[in-house]
Amino acid sequence: MDFARSRMVAPNIEYVTETGSTNSDLISKALNLPDFSVLVAGFQSAGRGRAGREWLAPAGSSLFVSVLLKPEGVTPTRFSWLPLMAGLAMNHAVSQMIAPNRSNLKWPNDVLVGEQKLSGVLSELVPDLSGVVVGAGLNVLQSQDQLPIENATSLLLSGASETDIDVVLAEYLTKLKELYSKFVSANGDAVASGLRYSVIENCGTLNRRVKAVMPGDTEVFGEAVGIDDSGRLILLREDTGQLLPVAAGDIVHLRHN
Ligand code: BTN
Repeated sequence: MDFARSRMVAPNIEYVTETGSTNSDLISKALNLPDFSVLVAGFQSAGRGRAGREWLAPAGSSLFVSVLLKPEGVTPTRFSWLPLMAGLAMNHAVSQMIAPNRSNLKWPNDVLVGEQKLSGVLSELVPDLSGVVVGAGLNVLQSQDQLPIENATSLLLSGASETDIDVVLAEYLTKLKELYSKFVSANGDAVASGLRYSVIENCGTLNRRVKAVMPGDTEVFGEAVGIDDSGRLILLREDTGQLLPVAAGDIVHLRHN
């Protein structure tokens, strides 16, 4: 794989046929790599997902990509927007390849087609806090029985017009670069850069009844009513009627309102 198209967008791309986890590899090298360095693998033997879960896909069936973001002039308190930015970039990229309005963002950064998961992002701080590695997994060529959960899909199963991994990666990197440049130019101000507005516009979680499974496994039911200036999901709790900002937690979409 030479990733000729993707390399035009991000010259610092490394491709490995197999590794444990592209996120772990990029984090361990982060101090010596420049901003927007990209690592892609053909297969991950120890792929990691959010909340300590694993991320599995057969070799060659899927995109495993991590990008090192070291946003100069942006305070680490604003890094919380980088995972949302990666999910938004992936949603923009795939929405051009499947019928319009079929994909959406599930807060914070899953891409869904209808209610089925197409892509997920795991973001991790680099050790010196100079940036974040955003790792995205995108199901590309899997058949239903190659997907780890029933409630998942791939580009192929979604009838996408494009399933070439280099083309899809180039689209994702192009969108990510655009959003990232605006964000860095605005010193990480998500409102001024338009990032918050774009996330809200593409987020299918808003105005839905949801269950939030918080760290420690506490469950909170409510309506998702907004996304605040830090990228947190605002829930209107059913039990207390109070607003609750959720920074980390698993969201389950319940019935449509
Ligand atoms: C999720 O749980 O939804 C996030 C999945 C993130 C998977 C990607 S694949 C590339 C990168 N390397 C990893 O080990 N994980 C991320």
